[in-house]
Amino acid sequence: MSLVIQSVSPHIGAEVIGADLAQPVGDNLFRQLHQAWVDADGLLVIRDQRLTPEQQISFSRQFGELASAGDNPVIQKYTLPGYPEIFRVSNKKQDGEPLGREDAGTYWHSDGTWQTFPSKASLLYGIEIPRVGGNTMFADLYQAWETLTPTMQHMVEGLKAVHAMANAGGTSFEREFTGKGDVVAAKTAIHPLVITHPDSGRKALFVNRGYTARIVGLSRPESDALLGFLFDHSTAPELVYRHTWRSRDLVIWDNRCTAHYAIPDYKAIGDRYLHRTSVKGDRPMQ
Ligand SMILES: [Fe+2]
Repeated sequence: MSLVIQSVSPHIGAEVIGADLAQPVGDNLFRQLHQAWVDADGLLVIRDQRLTPEQQISFSRQFGELASAGDNPVIQKYTLPGYPEIFRVSNKKQDGEPLGREDAGTYWHSDGTWQTFPSKASLLYGIEIPRVGGNTMFADLYQAWETLTPTMQHMVEGLKAVHAMANAGGTSFEREFTGKGDVVAAKTAIHPLVITHPDSGRKALFVNRGYTARIVGLSRPESDALLGFLFDHSTAPELVYRHTWRSRDLVIWDNRCTAHYAIPDYKAIGDRYLHRTSVKGDRPMQ
């Protein structure tokens, strides 16, 4: 069966119909999916999948090496037992212990931009989804660049910014690192404000409110003013697709050209349980 690819918004995101990722995905099918992903500005929705943890891991590995909990106890407690590559996102509890991270990414961010090699891709699979709520918003960082005036493009190109995990200090996950100052301090990286995506060759505005802390070489007020504008600009409603999850959705996003925001509005409605795999970055942003 050939694939059908349909846009889910005017700029960002496409839905793929006709792929069964529980079957081995050959090179030819993977190339088509990867191209569709690049063409959709780094966001793919594939519905009605029935994926075991093994199948999700095996498909995700086709994008590159996966991140794993390793011996990090903060990450470990949220991973699926026996599967250090599967990070659980959930508000559910078992015997009083969280089954996953409840407030994962409830602010604008791209995964792991505080790392020297930011994550290439994240794959999130919906298993239990509330009747309403718990949507995820995705912003298009190519469009964010392309919709700046040439004058503003000229101003920001060539600048660099510090990305820090501690910047998103209001969230539960980051609070778990607080008090372990050396760990938090190590979780910073410097990236260009404008990057060229290695697959598409297009420029993207590489900022996110969660982790982008400061522009190198500017005073604090200068940096805050410029970043504040860029954060608002890059997440304007016109540049955002809002995904309404269904159980068995697999959503794949590229952390180098998209930002996302998980809306924590569902807890009075029902439970939410998802499995995430993360593909490690393999090069600096440039
Ligand atoms: Fe995230």
